[in-house]
Order: sequence, then C-alpha cells, then structure tokens
Amino acid sequence: MKLNLIIGVLISVLIFSACSNQQPQQESESKATKTNSIQLTDSLKNVLIQRGDNIAKHAQAAFQSALKKTIKTNGMEYAIGFCNTEAMQITDSISGTQNAKIRRLAKKYRNPLNETNDAESEIYKTYILEWLKRETLYPKIITDEQGHPVYYRPIGIEAVCLNCHGVPGEDIPSPLAEKIAQLYPEDKAIDFTKGELRGMWAIRFEEYVVTNDVN
Ligand code: HEC
Repeated sequence: MKLNLIIGVLISVLIFSACSNQQPQQESESKATKTNSIQLTDSLKNVLIQRGDNIAKHAQAAFQSALKKTIKTNGMEYAIGFCNTEAMQITDSISGTQNAKIRRLAKKYRNPLNETNDAESEIYKTYILEWLKRETLYPKIITDEQGHPVYYRPIGIEAVCLNCHGVPGEDIPSPLAEKIAQLYPEDKAIDFTKGELRGMWAIRFEEYVVTNDVN
C-alpha cells in the first residue's frame, strides 16, 4: 500500500514535471514585447542575476506547492489533468509578469526539447570544468544570438532527484523507470549520483536588447 502510494506520487510528479516544461506558445503578435536597449554593465548584470535567482526559486516553489495542493484536495487523477491547466497558467503567469522565458536545459537530457544548443553547450562546459576542479559555481548573465541577456544557473543532483534520475531499478523504482522509458524513449537523464551536475536554468530577459556588452 505504502509503496503504491509513493510510486503514485512519483508518477504524478513525473507527469507534472513533464508538462511543466512545455513552453506556452509565445504569441509574438498579441504579446509584442517592448524592448529596451541596454549596456550590459556589471551593475546591471548583478540586478539581472538577482532577478534570475528569484524567478528560478519562484518557479520551482510555485509548481511544487500547486502540485501538492492538487493531489491533496483532488487526488491523483485530477493531478494528471492539472498539467494541462494550472501548471501552464503558472509558467505563463511567471513568464508573462517577469517578461522572461524560463527553461531548464541539459546535455544529458530527458526531454529532447531541453537539450542545450551549441552556444549553451559551451556555457555548460565551463560549468562542468569548474565543477570538476571543485570550484564554486556562480550564476551568470550572457547575451544570446538575438541580443537578449540570459541568466544561467547550474542545477545539481540532490538525493530526492535520484528517484527519477538515478539508477533504474535501484534508485528509480522499476514501475516508475518503465513509465519514464515509455514517455521518454531517448532518455539520457539516468544514472546520476548525488552532487553531480544535472543541467542549468536559462532565463531569458525578453525586454532587453544588449547594444554593447561592455565586459
Ligand atoms: C518524479 C520524477 C522526477 C524527480 C523526482 C525529478 N525529476 Fe527532473 N525530470 C523529470 C522528468 C519527467 C523530466 C522531463 C521533463 C520534460 O519533459 O520537460 C525532468 C527533467 C529535468 C530537467 C530538464 C532537462 C531534461 O533532462 O529534460 C532537469 C534539469 C531536471 N529534471 C533536474 C532535476 C533535479 C535537479 C531534481 C531533484 C531536485 C529532479 N529533476 C527530480 C522527472 C523528475
């Protein structure tokens, strides 16, 4: 009974996180963003880093508490439907109010939509190298190809993550591992150990266009 409940919760979290990463369609015409040209000074970078920190924290917390509440009041079945409705609204409202596009990227990805592109792979590589040298990893702001400043922050593996990203059949209960393999046939995001680097947040500030990266 107890194991069933745990697996049930894990599966619904799985389904939830599967949906929570889908990007709401950004309707460029109806939501045309007014852009401000900026010079990316150190002080502006610090401001954006603080904003990025807050958004990442807020996104994580909003999803977790909404899901817990849904399971508690409506049960598992509704929690699955929850993905299509409330989770989308949360992502939408955070993205909208913050004027930012929020993503979680990985080299060893579960969902191929979250794979780092060439430029992002380079950024991630520097984090990996720093991590291998046991240096402290800091968030950073880097201008992307379109000129938008993007906040990056590494994501590490904690004990709880191993339930879905550890060794299948050992850390990941077999029924859950099967469900994951079914949903994500290309899954590369397994066999992680605690403390390893898993990926990174990428939060793009849509309203700014960098005219001159002074650093
Ligand atoms: C209940 C299962 C579950 C748990 C627990 C879990 N994840 Fe995931 N994770 C997933 C699923 C499913 C996806 C794919 C989401 C999607 O389709 O966009 C995912 C995706 C990710 C991604 C996006 C990149 C990718 O591979 O698609 C990151 C980063 C990530 N997880 C990190 C973590 C971290 C860090 C923890 C622990 C704090 C964690 N996960 C715990 C199931 C889980």
